[in-house]
Amino acid sequence: MTLGSMPGSSGYLDLYPERKMSYFGKPYVLGLTVVAGIGGLLFGYDTGVISGALLYIKDDFEAVNRSSFLQETIVSMALVGAIIGAASGGWINDAHGRKKATLVSDVVFAVGAVVMAAAPDPYVLILGRLLVGLGVGVASVTAPVYIAEASPSEVRGALVSTNVLMITGGQFLSYLINLAFTEVPGTWRWMLGVSGVPAVIQFSLMLCLPESPRWLFMKNKKDEAVTVMSKIYTLDRLEDEIDHLSASSEAERLKKNNVRYQDVFKSKEIRLAFIAGAGLQAFQQFTGINTVMYYSPTIVQMAGFSSNQLALLLSLIIAALNAAGTVVGIYLIDHMGRKKLALMSLSGVIVSLAILSGSFFAEAYSGSSTGVYGPLAIVGLALYIAFFAPGMGPVPWTVNSEIYPEAYRGICGGMSATVNWVSNLIVAQTFLSIAEALGTGATFAILCGIAVVALIFVGCYVPETKGLTFEEVERIWKERAWGNTYTRETGEGLLEEGSPSQG
Ligand code: BGC
Repeated sequence: MTLGSMPGSSGYLDLYPERKMSYFGKPYVLGLTVVAGIGGLLFGYDTGVISGALLYIKDDFEAVNRSSFLQETIVSMALVGAIIGAASGGWINDAHGRKKATLVSDVVFAVGAVVMAAAPDPYVLILGRLLVGLGVGVASVTAPVYIAEASPSEVRGALVSTNVLMITGGQFLSYLINLAFTEVPGTWRWMLGVSGVPAVIQFSLMLCLPESPRWLFMKNKKDEAVTVMSKIYTLDRLEDEIDHLSASSEAERLKKNNVRYQDVFKSKEIRLAFIAGAGLQAFQQFTGINTVMYYSPTIVQMAGFSSNQLALLLSLIIAALNAAGTVVGIYLIDHMGRKKLALMSLSGVIVSLAILSGSFFAEAYSGSSTGVYGPLAIVGLALYIAFFAPGMGPVPWTVNSEIYPEAYRGICGGMSATVNWVSNLIVAQTFLSIAEALGTGATFAILCGIAVVALIFVGCYVPETKGLTFEEVERIWKERAWGNTYTRETGEGLLEEGSPSQG
């Protein structure tokens, strides 16, 4: 077979269009995606449930009611856990595989859920939050990588974005469950404890699923890898996929058996990839998605609607819109491409944030909380979600699951997921105080400015990876890093900085 007709080179699927697979074409791959996506469900549920649960925790523990420090700690301890989980999850993924990483995250998560549900005091509850956070952090790295590695390249974006649908669906579900348990004795214990159930379900289903074929290949377990791949690809494509994987994995395996965190910064092409991936993750958070997800009832009240119920209802609608928008993203990401989708999404986000900011400023200057500006702010909020959900929601997770070479996929994915969680924590912790200090209009104006920078960043640094195989993506970085020095034909490996052939 010539290089030009291999799955790892442009035009392979144009040459054999009948070999293209569709999203619903292989129930096995879709099933694997949904099972792995339970990690996304835990992520979404866990981040969504706490705002409602906290109201009832305060009723039960007087100490929590009195101390806003305890309240903040209960909320943010899961984010702290997720930061640690994502940072170590990358290493677990590379060293022990995607399957074991998923199983570990389920066990830690389930134990955390039981600890929270049974907590006799706020401190044990905080420990439980830390544990579920750890589980969520590991899952946030593992699920996208595991799905991406089992996906045919032409539907990889949609399948990885399905995990994001599980995140946004999980957030929606948590709001519904919060409503369902308000009248049940032991409210918050149920709200928090019930999340152990999907973790147990995922653990059992995962035992029946295989390890990622690409990871198996890298670890030189070729027979096992081929068995798994034969369940994913049709016979005519299987041989081509294996041929190419053999060529690239062998080189990877020999070169870098034990990648360390610092190696990421030593190689120019990996550094470039990491900047693009981590930048996307940071901008996903710093353009304010979680100010909206965590504080939408507060924002609605800031806009002049004082009813608690209306605020809660509107936040439920926002969460539903977010999940529905993710479905649109699943369709668009492999049609429009990652980069165009992110650019379109950010353009809409900029306009929406300008509307939000403008309406809060106008309201402050007009000196009245009634009239046209409140509803205008709600329109801004809805537009914001409508534009964010299909693009900046799924694109960072998808791009990070596909831009790193095999040997670095876990470590780099983990590091950039850590960037996501740290940014999430910073935004969530500072939004209300910045709004108090500078005003809501100015706060949204800052987010709007950040979105403009994000637009420029995506335009300049993020390559289009739609439909490309992992090997083709790798070539993009080599060409960006070394220009003409890197030649396709010889398929040179990773060049260390300072190597004689460096361009
Ligand atoms: C983000 C989460 C966010 C969710 C809501 C995800 O892609 O990573 O932090 O809460 O989207 O849409």
